[in-house]
Amino acid sequence: MTATALPAWAELHSHRHDLTGTRIADLFAADPRRGPELTIEDDGLVLDYSKNLVTARTLELLVRLAEQRQLSTGIEAMFAGDHVNVTEDRAALHTALRAPAGAGLPQSAAVEAVLARMSAFATAVRSGARLGATGKPIRAVVNIGIGGSDLGPAMAYQALREFATPTIDLRFVSNVDGHDLTRVLDELDPETTLFVVSSKTFTTVETLTNAYAAREWLLDFVDDSDAVAQHFVAVSADDRAVAAFGIDPAHKFEFWDWVGGRYSLWSAIGLSVMIAIGPDNFRQLLAGAHAMDRHFRTAPLDRNMPVLLGLLGIWYRNFWDAQTHAVLPYDQRLSRFPAYLQQLEMESNGKSARRDGTPVAVGTAPIVWGEPGTNGQHAFFQLLHQGTVFVPSDFIGVLRPHHDLPGHHDLLMANLFAQTEALAIGRPAAGAGTHRDFPGNRPSNTLLLADLTPYALGRLIALYEHKVFTQGWIWNINSFDQWGVELGKSLATRIVAELNTEQQLGHDSSTNALIERYRRARQ
Ligand code: F6P
Repeated sequence: MTATALPAWAELHSHRHDLTGTRIADLFAADPRRGPELTIEDDGLVLDYSKNLVTARTLELLVRLAEQRQLSTGIEAMFAGDHVNVTEDRAALHTALRAPAGAGLPQSAAVEAVLARMSAFATAVRSGARLGATGKPIRAVVNIGIGGSDLGPAMAYQALREFATPTIDLRFVSNVDGHDLTRVLDELDPETTLFVVSSKTFTTVETLTNAYAAREWLLDFVDDSDAVAQHFVAVSADDRAVAAFGIDPAHKFEFWDWVGGRYSLWSAIGLSVMIAIGPDNFRQLLAGAHAMDRHFRTAPLDRNMPVLLGLLGIWYRNFWDAQTHAVLPYDQRLSRFPAYLQQLEMESNGKSARRDGTPVAVGTAPIVWGEPGTNGQHAFFQLLHQGTVFVPSDFIGVLRPHHDLPGHHDLLMANLFAQTEALAIGRPAAGAGTHRDFPGNRPSNTLLLADLTPYALGRLIALYEHKVFTQGWIWNINSFDQWGVELGKSLATRIVAELNTEQQLGHDSSTNALIERYRRARQ
């Protein structure tokens, strides 16, 4: 049954009506224990969801919605490997990638075998044992990939740079804009550079274009076609496409069609991260994600962090008409986390069709965006505090920093706490005029990590993965396909062929004129 037909949906609507005029400040005033009571602490991760526009009744109804929608059945179906990706008839078993070797899953042996190969390879690169074609040790690694084959590793590497070996210079190239690749290559030495071509399908035009250009760059310097074998490895689910590129299957790290691109950091797509932080730390990343898997699977719905984040998102999206959701990491190391979440949430749940193909009757994923604090405070927080758009947000902070500069971390965290307080509680203008009025009543979650370790990062990422699953299940959409990216890709293929000809164009008049202008400019 779809969510809107469930009794809890109607109850939530009428409850939302009852809450009109309710102020978060009053909820705190009425219950001095609200903060600690609406906080969950589990294994070094704290979720304080008390600064939301919710009462005990709201939470009860949201959990009832999850129960009536049989969320627990959905969770078990995903973990069991049922083909929850219905449009592609596939399982979504990223959780199997981080299950302990002894878990005895049908996938465990294959997963462990690839992890062992990755570890041996990463160790050889890190130690200098892996040599380039001219006998020099590899010193730079370039991950070429896009979307899920870039955002996860790039985000994780930024987050965990303090754990990375200084002997390897790790870079990421994703954009088909040639400036991305040339800027990186200009700073590297072909004799000591290794390319990790990461693409699940190995057909993604951006990645292949960059990989071919990188190969040319290498061969310009090292005039030996065998050099490709020394300087290129592939991460892919498709053997034949890798071989067609010219990478020996012996230099390919496998993953499987039951791993979605945006859920693939835990697979061989994480190879570049493993090279940087080492196999043991990569295992910790997996262990953290697995710990969150256990929590998601076993914690009661009303104490379940991903479930609560998902339900609160639904509360604002569907009952308060929130169009957007801000993610505000108060930690520079998490600067790529909002971009990573944009793909995770918007590619997974930005859908208008239900699993059976019928149109959805409710809003699905909001627009997810964000920047690290405190930078965002000096850019867009004006709108968050006094604008006319309702923006629920997640603040993410880390209790202990990885530097020893005096004072910085206190300032950073004081700002995080101050912003969530100002947004929720506000401050009346007290005669100073409406320009100085802080209306408050703007909800946020606060997530605090004890430390930003590989383990803690694994937990944080898996938390959001399962939040996305929770929402997708309740909206009855398939969170694991991405048909919406196809039309633009096929039109680009047609247009790129048209750019170099004089042929008559058959697009709309705007597109025709833009193409003509480009044709003239490149003559
Ligand atoms: O943007 C569409 C998409 O298919 C993503 O889902 C995926 O992460 C990305 O392209 C890259 O795909 P691949 O890993 O196959 O190159």
